[in-house]
Amino acid sequence: MLKFSFLTLFPELLRPFADEAIVGKARSRGLIDVELVNMRDYADNKHHKVDDTPYGGGAGMVIRVDVAQRALESLPPADEVILFSPAGQPFTQQVAEELAQRRHLVFLCGRYEGFDARTEALVTRELSIGDFVMMGGEAAAACVLEAVARLVPDVLGDAQSHEADSFSSGLLDYPEYTRPAEWQGQNVPEVLSSGNHAAIARWRRREALARTKARRPDLLHSASLSPQDSADLLELGATPAELAEWHAPEPPKPKQKRRK
Ligand SMILES: C[S@@+](CC[C@H](N)C(=O)[O-])C[C@H]1O[C@@H](n2cnc3c(N)ncnc32)[C@H](O)[C@@H]1O
Repeated sequence: MLKFSFLTLFPELLRPFADEAIVGKARSRGLIDVELVNMRDYADNKHHKVDDTPYGGGAGMVIRVDVAQRALESLPPADEVILFSPAGQPFTQQVAEELAQRRHLVFLCGRYEGFDARTEALVTRELSIGDFVMMGGEAAAACVLEAVARLVPDVLGDAQSHEADSFSSGLLDYPEYTRPAEWQGQNVPEVLSSGNHAAIARWRRREALARTKARRPDLLHSASLSPQDSADLLELGATPAELAEWHAPEPPKPKQKRRK
């Protein structure tokens, strides 16, 4: 069972993410556990003040390290204590996969100007969910919960399997369609109704390559590509120099026609 503990000043912001939808179901099935801890309960003054003015002056308030420490010490030992900060390591699918292997994750959600810098000594890593600044770490922590919980075995059924998802295979996901077969003059690609599973798999792989090349060519540097992928990428307009840059293997040699 993977346990997520959130240290926050606004536990109610996280409550729906913990209680609803697949996370809520996974909790009631005993696959994951979620605990919301109000850091204000660990302020040692009668006004439950958790923050103070910054040394050196300047706008905003800073969350006190002693409050964060007491809140952390109230929890059972964790494999990872993660502080959310725009200055953290970028959160990616690979990080989500690492975190899904752990037993207990603690998330420290900042507010105001963030935590006193000495809080870094209490954490195993800092994570950022992107190059923008939000008002608090709760939305970032909810993103990480959503991304990690779905990787825990049995949380998703086969029907929701994550293996073909964007990033899991190193590429963006292929496009999906459902009924109606025709909508405002746009038809679902014929191959998807052919019943030919090999042709469908081949079409999906090529679409995933085309999308990734068009939208996120940077991902092709670390994607695992086959010789057939290289041939498809050439057909999709990639140059041999790009293939070399992406460490793509040689495409298969065209079959020679037999002489009569
Ligand atoms: C207003 S922000 C503090 C920003 C901080 N002064 C800075 O510029 O790095 C308050 C809190 O929101 C959270 N936060 C904001 N943007 C984030 C991001 N992109 N990724 C992760 N956490 C973020 C962090 O927990 C942060 O402590």
